[in-house]
Amino acid sequence: MRIVYVVGTRPNFVKTAPVVAALRDRLPDGRHAIVHTGQHYDRMMSEVFLEELGVPAPDHMLEVGSGSHAQQTARTMERLEPVLLEERPDLVVVPGDVNSTIAAALTAAKLLIPVAHIESGLRSFDRTMPEEINRILTDQISEQLFLHSDEAVENLRSEGIPEARMHFVGNTMIDTLVALEGRFRAAGAAERLGVEPGGYLLVTLHRPALVDGPLLPETVAQLATLAREMPVVFPVHPRTRRMMEEVEQDHPGLLLCEPLGYVDFLSLLADAGAVLTDSGGIQEETTYLGIRCFTLRDNTERPVTVRAGTNTLLGLDPAAIAHIPDAITEARATEPPPLWDGRAAERIADVVAGPT
Ligand code: UD1
Repeated sequence: MRIVYVVGTRPNFVKTAPVVAALRDRLPDGRHAIVHTGQHYDRMMSEVFLEELGVPAPDHMLEVGSGSHAQQTARTMERLEPVLLEERPDLVVVPGDVNSTIAAALTAAKLLIPVAHIESGLRSFDRTMPEEINRILTDQISEQLFLHSDEAVENLRSEGIPEARMHFVGNTMIDTLVALEGRFRAAGAAERLGVEPGGYLLVTLHRPALVDGPLLPETVAQLATLAREMPVVFPVHPRTRRMMEEVEQDHPGLLLCEPLGYVDFLSLLADAGAVLTDSGGIQEETTYLGIRCFTLRDNTERPVTVRAGTNTLLGLDPAAIAHIPDAITEARATEPPPLWDGRAAERIADVVAGPT
């Protein structure tokens, strides 16, 4: 069997790494070719992740880089098509909901190559999010849909997708977390940054709806106020960094740093008193770890994390940050959602390669 895995952004590496490993194990004589679209390209957004996750060097680098949605999607399709014609895969595996995902799924489907979608069926029901468009379209044209939470079944059913294409396998991002647990528990990132484990707020913000306009300076001002009560650690995404530099705002008391590698980031996450984020993956990782998470968005495509009790939607409203210190002590999850157990990739391998 010949399989092509298409990855391009930081969270995609995390979701795909265990699937590549499980399928290589199961199909040692198969061809397993990794295509890196280059949607993320900085060392700290890309190479470091691949190294830490033990993903072999990509077989093809498309180097599409940043650009408008149309440019990024079109460049990926144009550069991926000859690779698929050369590789002649039996299956193309795509993770998540980014532009690389829909571009790869569309290119493969038009070449009549079956597509498998990791993390299928998530819906925010907000079509102003580019990721929502990517999710819906990728699910429509994929043959094997790998679901990580039970609500995905209903979402896909209501879009007319037959049950036979759905496979509830669990969460491959949690597979990676479980595999790295020994390393991140020993990493001591909080101590290195000079903050007390359990006593700080960890912040990540990168979505255009939040960082590309006036909400970013308002958020930074709110965080500076909160930093008088508890340390605020903020690894800054390149997009957010660029916008903060444009505004030239002071950020007294905030511990800003460059994007971190995954082991250090998980170490900071596991030791945080609470987390403020607009990321999807971090809502899941905090749920698994039982850490309080506050999501600065109006909606989430991951309601399972809210039901678990760890995640609170604050709305797209920086003023709500002021409520965090009081809310930190509220209830949190006692156990992770079903099949978030470190074995999702094995279940995917069972579907793709047949049970052992
Ligand atoms: C993508 C995804 C988004 C995901 C995010 C994770 C889509 C539609 N969006 O956004 O769902 O949550 O990645 O980060 O696919 N930049 C660098 N170096 C890099 C990458 C980005 O400097 O390695 C800068 C560039 O200025 C770029 C900006 O950050 O213009 C955009 O970054 P980001 O939002 O991460 O990338 P997208 O691909 O737009």
